[in-house]
Amino acid sequence: MDEFDAFRGLIAKGRSLIPRFKPYLGWGEFKEIFRHQSDSVRCFEEHFARTFEARHALAFPYGRSALWAFFRAFDLKRTEVILPAYTCVVVAHAIVLSGNVPRFVDVGPLDFNMDLDQVEQAINERTGAVIATHLFGYPLDVDRLNQIVRQAEVKYGKKIWIIQDCAHGFGTRWKGRPVCNEGTLALFGLNISKIITSIFGGMLTTQDRKTAQRLRQWREDHFLLSDGWRSIRRRAYLLVVYPAFQEKIYAVVNWLEEKTALLNYFTKAYHLDSTIHFPPDHLQQMSSVEAQVGMEQLKKFPEIVQRRRELARLYHAHLSDSQGIDLLPLAEGAIWSHFPVRVRKREEILRRLHQNGIQLGQLVDYSIPELPGYRPYAADASFPNAARCSRETINLPIHASLQPGQCQAIAWRFQAAVAKEVSIPIKTLLLVGNDKIGRRLIGRLGSYSDRIVLLDVSSGWKRVFRLLRKKRISLPLLCKMVWAEFRREDHRIPTLERIRNSQEFLQKIKDTGAKRVYLFRAGLIIPGGILTSGAEILNVHCASLHSYGGLGSIQRALEDEVWEQEATLHRVEASIDHGEVLRTVGYRLNPRWSYGQNEDWAYDAGIQLLLDELKAN
Ligand SMILES: Cc1ncc(COP(=O)(O)O)c(C=O)c1O
Repeated sequence: MDEFDAFRGLIAKGRSLIPRFKPYLGWGEFKEIFRHQSDSVRCFEEHFARTFEARHALAFPYGRSALWAFFRAFDLKRTEVILPAYTCVVVAHAIVLSGNVPRFVDVGPLDFNMDLDQVEQAINERTGAVIATHLFGYPLDVDRLNQIVRQAEVKYGKKIWIIQDCAHGFGTRWKGRPVCNEGTLALFGLNISKIITSIFGGMLTTQDRKTAQRLRQWREDHFLLSDGWRSIRRRAYLLVVYPAFQEKIYAVVNWLEEKTALLNYFTKAYHLDSTIHFPPDHLQQMSSVEAQVGMEQLKKFPEIVQRRRELARLYHAHLSDSQGIDLLPLAEGAIWSHFPVRVRKREEILRRLHQNGIQLGQLVDYSIPELPGYRPYAADASFPNAARCSRETINLPIHASLQPGQCQAIAWRFQAAVAKEVSIPIKTLLLVGNDKIGRRLIGRLGSYSDRIVLLDVSSGWKRVFRLLRKKRISLPLLCKMVWAEFRREDHRIPTLERIRNSQEFLQKIKDTGAKRVYLFRAGLIIPGGILTSGAEILNVHCASLHSYGGLGSIQRALEDEVWEQEATLHRVEASIDHGEVLRTVGYRLNPRWSYGQNEDWAYDAGIQLLLDELKAN
């Protein structure tokens, strides 16, 4: 009954949840559900090869069956296949199910890819292949890997295959070269969690004609054509995927997934779990509808990558200085299929963000040699870095449809959750007025774990009328201000905590124990209690404080023709418009400009002043 009440609550409150991943689907893919093109698989292969600068591409029902088929087609049996301990478990399944033996190596301490020193030690006369995973789309040093493998081939007098696992690394580059062309062949996965999708499906690419021919022949001999029922199931699945990832519906989908066995019932065959098995249809070729959807996705690939890279840069700008969060550097060839971060206490952070409507991913939450089915293959070797990654990694949402404002909100919420977990003291509170200039400042703030940004929503029309009555502003000036605000460009900002009155603000200062409070366009009345709270209160004015502090200052400066002006930061001592000036930034008003342009110019100086101040402290 409790669960049912929780479900009703979820619907009633209209809660939404940003999903940890989301396929980038549109009308183009939707149309394909109702179309059939008989040669679509061949066309998809050709387009795929062209997009990723490969000579040949071969489609398979899944990435894992593509890998399995490769081992079988080339008679690789009972060989050791080297792979990272921290990767998707189905890669190991393909090795075992094809009659080979997985030989795990640990990942490096700095990124999530395998440690090449350990590859060098692990390679021996029984090695048949090395699987080089570019996990989360982050490039592995393929030059060094090639060198290690070439030396081993000479030493043991045999061919050792290099398979680039690009299931996450569509378009990943190493020193400007696509990694998929650096080995004998490359593997891609195309399920809906991947950068581009063909509903399900996998692909192998190779530069070598003979390898492609042999694989193609083997596929024709051993795989069945996709049957009609499967094709209907694929179409139905895609139809469901469209609404399922809408944020409001996704909250319900996630609830069903976590609290009931319903979704698990439908998806269990495809699960990436530790039982060594393949889905029942792993020997049926890719269906035409999957290839058609894949072709639509290929058209969007450049846009998808560009958006992901922008989001990765945004996350980086926000999180790179945060205590308690380890990030990957912004490597040039990285494609950001995921945005992985490492934190010390993961569970609490995941829970907190979920409460805030954000689902974070734990894509690979195991080290394969620790899974029961794989313990026998690990002997007594240990994989401490993989174990650490499996406990500490979080994947922040980075899908192409995520808006920059959402990305910023996720970064801030995430940072606040980490700060709480590792008890980082809050140094600074920023109270910013909820108007377009306030939002412009917020858009330019980086985030730091020891800083909290609050929105001042205390000013309403009532206050404006009061100011008019008290003659603090005139009606023509009010009209000018409203017109300037109306014409200004607005900035999307994350959802922030709102402060409605001075009591709430005082409470916040006490709760956080902040040492400094900055006010920017905050209309809040500052009572004595705030001044004696122990925090230093600092206010930004956009014009010289002593003559032109407070509301209407730009108009007065324009009327007095005092063109040389300065934005000021001052300590609030007795009232909001008085106190010692700590920092200034000079600028010049322009008599030929409109009131709005001058106001913008003045507040831009104020924004710069505050950003300089925050950087310095
Ligand atoms: C790193 C990696 N390699 C290979 C695969 C295999 O892809 P598929 O699910 O299509 O079998 C996956 C799948 O998620 C993966 O994450």
